[in-house]
Amino acid sequence: MSLLTGKTAVYGIFGAPVAHSLSPVMQNAAFKYCGIDAVYVPFHVHSDDISMAVASVRALDIKGINVTVPHKEAVIPFLDDIDPVAAVIGAVNTVVNRKGRLVGYNTDSSGFLRAAGDELGFNPLDQQILLLGAGGACRAAVYALLSAGAAKVTVANRSLARARTLVAAMPVQPHQRLLSVAYGTSEYFQELENAHLIVNTTSVGLYGEKLDFLPLENIKSSALIFDMVYSETGTALTNDATSRGLSCVDGLDLLAAQGEDAFFIWTKKRLPTGFMRSFLTDYQSTCK
Ligand code: ATR
Repeated sequence: MSLLTGKTAVYGIFGAPVAHSLSPVMQNAAFKYCGIDAVYVPFHVHSDDISMAVASVRALDIKGINVTVPHKEAVIPFLDDIDPVAAVIGAVNTVVNRKGRLVGYNTDSSGFLRAAGDELGFNPLDQQILLLGAGGACRAAVYALLSAGAAKVTVANRSLARARTLVAAMPVQPHQRLLSVAYGTSEYFQELENAHLIVNTTSVGLYGEKLDFLPLENIKSSALIFDMVYSETGTALTNDATSRGLSCVDGLDLLAAQGEDAFFIWTKKRLPTGFMRSFLTDYQSTCK
């Protein structure tokens, strides 16, 4: 970060918790790299305070905000405009302040697609994808995959009702199939065998847990794995997948890609491919 002056633009992130967030590290690095006089700071915002926090964006002329857990849905009613993609997904992770008008976007969706493309070489066109989980992260990924021409997307979740609700809310083209299944059923095992890409969108793995509902021995040897969870030492899923010779990416790739897309919305500047990912890797190795 360069010297802060009266002209320095302020950006930030709203979350609870937020102290663990790597977004300040990578966004400040990006501002510095692009020679932009700006600073990005973490704001711990409690759930009850989200409307006041959004009002402060206007009052303090904060130029842009990332929104993370647990505010991605709750923030929507307090914004002036929602990008149509974020509206369908029902979650906002990036807000831009356009002369006092606050516009919400979802870059988890575009970031997911870019991370899958850049890191796994995955193009969803005509492909079959199995997603585990049915929360907000899953909605962003399903939207991205359908928009990019996936042939068949299957959502498997512990609560089948939640998976069904998600599937019913997504726009599907006539040639596409979007299904919901429960773990452990014969339909689930069939989807496991056929999937070109398997995505863990559940929170399982955050604390080293194994995904006992994902038997890797049942998947294609060419299947790609996207684990939205991240762990410095690798998640149980990515470690297991790697030991089986499968290609996989983790939540750090997603964090970096959604951050690069947020940076683009705020600054209209495209960072070099992999900028934030490699910055985070370097940063973490210096922290050890
Ligand atoms: P996000 O918005 O980040 O996706 P979320 O809305 O809390 O987070 O969703 C978390 C997902 O992880 C859900 O699909 C949840 O399954 P349920 O809908 O059945 O609750 C899934 N999940 C969390 N813990 C799980 C576990 N122990 N086993 C299987 N799925 C789990």
